[in-house]
Amino acid sequence: MSASRGEFSSRFGFIMAAAGSAVGLGNIWGFPTQTASNGGAAFVLAYLVLAFCLAYPALMAELVVGRYGQANAVSSLKKISKHKWQHPLAFLVGFGGIICAGLILSFYAIVAGWMISYTVEPVAQLVGAQEAASWITGQSLTRNLLFAGGFILLTVLIISKGVENGIEKWSKRLMPALLGILFALIAYVFSQDGASEGLRNYLLPDFSAIFEPSLLVSALGQAFFSLSLGTSVMIIYGSYISKSENLVTLGASVTLIDVFIAFVAGLLIIPAMYVAQEQGVQIFDEAGKLLSEDTLVFQVLPALFDSMGSAGLYVGFAFFALMSIAALTSSISMLEAPVSYTVEKFGMDRKPATWTIGALIGAVSTVILLNFEQLFGFVIALTTRFGQPLLGLMCCVFVGWIWHRSSLLKEIEQGNPDAASGWFWKIWPWYIKFVCPIAISLVFINSLR
Ligand code: PFF
Repeated sequence: MSASRGEFSSRFGFIMAAAGSAVGLGNIWGFPTQTASNGGAAFVLAYLVLAFCLAYPALMAELVVGRYGQANAVSSLKKISKHKWQHPLAFLVGFGGIICAGLILSFYAIVAGWMISYTVEPVAQLVGAQEAASWITGQSLTRNLLFAGGFILLTVLIISKGVENGIEKWSKRLMPALLGILFALIAYVFSQDGASEGLRNYLLPDFSAIFEPSLLVSALGQAFFSLSLGTSVMIIYGSYISKSENLVTLGASVTLIDVFIAFVAGLLIIPAMYVAQEQGVQIFDEAGKLLSEDTLVFQVLPALFDSMGSAGLYVGFAFFALMSIAALTSSISMLEAPVSYTVEKFGMDRKPATWTIGALIGAVSTVILLNFEQLFGFVIALTTRFGQPLLGLMCCVFVGWIWHRSSLLKEIEQGNPDAASGWFWKIWPWYIKFVCPIAISLVFINSLR
């Protein structure tokens, strides 16, 4: 079966694809801007702890379900159910995750479209097309539709090629490119005045902020979004992993890469803000807080690039290309979730399934763009504040409470024959049964206040 439904051809291929899903706008935009607005290094510390203690175990739950089920999220969760009455629940969690992934893609494509437009703008400037350049970065509906549509088209083209020739091949190309650009930009920013002050602010924690409930809520939400949890994406990627691979170390590698890149992105963005301040750009709001979110990415940083003269065109191009690449390796995983379900459930060929779902997601993005004020924030909150934590939690419940422990161990032992005597098996089953559900529930309840 696995040969006909596709499989990652190597360990490296899987790691690039899963890290590609994990590393996205959440790392390079979300993490540094959350750090900027949540007490600097205190947030970094909380994030590190939550990513390893809660998000990694939850990621393992999703990967192991997928590899055992060798199928889309709904079928895989049904397969681990002990009783027939659990099937509707399996459907709810699996299908809920697929819808969640599709909805995330519909707003993610809009933001990624902005990133692509800012990548194209310096090119337009360089060829002297000034008018086109200012149209490209102006907030018009046509521009938004065009660039979001273009981004979805790129995603569709990759996914229509399948697991090995699409997802794996492009992740293996794009992830090293992303790393190269990231480090080159850091080297450049570090050579500028003001960077060391930014670095100090990033790395010196204000410990008084660390137990703030709002900080913990933001850090866990960020960790779940960053590891693409609760969307069935990691279940489907898990189903493409060969039975001879060690899942425990694979999951740990993906978490490490994800956390590492978020941390490194902070080394770029926060010092860059202080370099901008050195150039006379305003980086604090009236309340004395660092500017963040869209103001940071679309005003502070472009102002910094402008102040660099002609070098700024190249630096701006590299920065937004980095963002666009990060977005693309994530969006392909979001599209794979509904596509794999449609292919397996309805027996549709991959190509028509990909184009149909791509068109559907494009239609949802259009509706969001047409009702931006009402829908944009709403869809983000619905998926990332409610959908992801709740579905991620349900996945832990499935693995911890519903799946037979002996069958779970057998799956983990594939590719890891000594698993039963290792540290992972001593801790993780308890973690997934008690710690994760309770901690995620607590943070979730807190986020409602
Ligand atoms: N992990 C991605 C990021 O950090 O940008 C976002 C993401 C990808 C969320 C895939 C959900 C998903 F299914």
